[in-house]
Amino acid sequence: MPEIKMLPTMLKDLKIQDTDHYYNCVFTKVHDNVGIYSIPAVNALTGTMSQDIVDDVNNYLEDVNDNSANPTLAANISGDQSFLDINHPLMKGYCEQILKSAQVYQNFLNTNKTNNYIAIPTFQSCWSVKMNSGDYNPKHRHEVSSLEGFASIFYTKVPEQISIDFNKSYSSDYKKSSFTRKDGCLEFFWDNISPSTIDSQTIVPNVGDYYIFPIWLLHSVNPYRGDGQRWSVQSNFDLFTDFEIQRNLKLNE
Ligand SMILES: [Fe+2]
Repeated sequence: MPEIKMLPTMLKDLKIQDTDHYYNCVFTKVHDNVGIYSIPAVNALTGTMSQDIVDDVNNYLEDVNDNSANPTLAANISGDQSFLDINHPLMKGYCEQILKSAQVYQNFLNTNKTNNYIAIPTFQSCWSVKMNSGDYNPKHRHEVSSLEGFASIFYTKVPEQISIDFNKSYSSDYKKSSFTRKDGCLEFFWDNISPSTIDSQTIVPNVGDYYIFPIWLLHSVNPYRGDGQRWSVQSNFDLFTDFEIQRNLKLNE
């Protein structure tokens, strides 16, 4: 009876020599010309708005401090969380670009579906978050009126201490990347699909940058130290399908 040692031998041979992060996957080199691609389970859109748009939105935000959105949100902050008027003239540039990007994102996601449907993104809600040093936002997801939807975040003011702290500890070594400082950073979390895939992503906020992601994607914001407020604008988008529109019409008859 031959001794079966296949599994231990394979494991011994699979000596991981190198790991690299790419935009949409992790490549783990096993040995020369052989490696494993680990593809994350989430696609998100990212873009940058012009300084003119940032300035317009910040001029508008200066005057909106009624904390109207505070009772409906997960974060309990010392700053301000206010609903915004997407029809305000100073919001025009932001609204046009974020809506256009939401449509691009929707088109991209639909290309990956075998059973396509048409659902045009529409604004469901929009609010500002002005954080002070020490404020944080616990892990949460967003909700919209339709079954599926998008959430988004746009950074308009970021204390420089956040990127200084992150860059101090940043390492290109994947094994050490879990230990980078993440003060004031946004973090995305999702279910892991195998032992070799990643299940979270840290986003360092930069003025002008924005992200669009599925409403179900859990995320949090870490507290930071240092001077100055951290400002961002959030928009949720409904994705009503024809089926949902027809059903809602019938329910309202
Ligand atoms: Fe959020």
